[in-house]
Amino acid sequence: MTRRSDDRRAAVLKALREHRSGVSGEVLASALGVSRVAIRKHMEALRESGYEIDARAGEGYTLVSSPDSPLPLEVAPLLKVPFAARLEGGPATGSTNDDARVLAHEGAPEGTVVLAGQQTSGRGRLGREWSSPPGGVYASIVLRPKVETPEAIVLPLVVGLGVARALDSLGAHTLLKWPNDLLSADGRKVAGVLLEGLSEGWLLSWIIAGIGVNVRNAPDPTASTCVDELAGRTVPLAVVAAAVLDGVADAYRSWQTGGFAPLRAEYESRSFLAGRPVRVGDAAGRTVADGRACGIDAQGRLLVETATGVVPIAAGDVTLR
Ligand code: BTN
Repeated sequence: MTRRSDDRRAAVLKALREHRSGVSGEVLASALGVSRVAIRKHMEALRESGYEIDARAGEGYTLVSSPDSPLPLEVAPLLKVPFAARLEGGPATGSTNDDARVLAHEGAPEGTVVLAGQQTSGRGRLGREWSSPPGGVYASIVLRPKVETPEAIVLPLVVGLGVARALDSLGAHTLLKWPNDLLSADGRKVAGVLLEGLSEGWLLSWIIAGIGVNVRNAPDPTASTCVDELAGRTVPLAVVAAAVLDGVADAYRSWQTGGFAPLRAEYESRSFLAGRPVRVGDAAGRTVADGRACGIDAQGRLLVETATGVVPIAAGDVTLR
């Protein structure tokens, strides 16, 4: 769909919301400067996305209900931080990271976002599957930070912090398990962040920040939980998506201006690992540090106090001992 068509669909939805007792296709067509056939097509597309729209002779179109889904049409009006350049997506896709990657290759600008209410091939860190049933928020943001690749090592922490702030603002308090898992205080997973990027030499071309949030349900109730359970209420999926996008935009902007230093104390204060005995493994499962998590340094590395001294870890998988 073109940008113009997107805007028209949003205008049709806005008009339906303003005319609660119904609006005719003719009135809509002349207000938007399109044909009645075009209005009918927009109505069909809205219905396919989950909007319930009545069409009656004499009364015209009436919006009966809107889907509880992180659709761009629902999320865009809720955004407060001017960052999202373009919102794409729909009820379901394979992986929003894959979709965002295609857009990034095509030259999509920073702030391009892909949203979905369900994924059929959701990916997690270290090649794991990310269970993505309806009831979650799945989002990927194209970032084009003007930094050399090693400086971006800290970005997963920045994005994780943005998500944690967002969920806090909704009443769902989470802690950050380095580098970028969001857990409840009792250690169950609520959300995860997956960054994938393309660098050209020392410079980053783009990074996709993929974020998955369990909102309505936990894929495995012993190891995971969800926003609704932590907040003690049903939070609309579009509200979660907008808060997450705003939270990430804010944290990313402040990292661009001042680096990680001003965010470090807050990250540490939200750290799930602080003071705990940990084992850090590399991608092949080999132990790279065994000790007690004792902080995060200015580059975003996890500090582990081992028998032989403090070891800074730039990448790895942490398990509690
Ligand atoms: C993890 O904890 O392992 C990271 C999970 C990241 C999942 C998100 S959902 C949106 C985006 N699309 C994907 O396929 N993965 C990320």
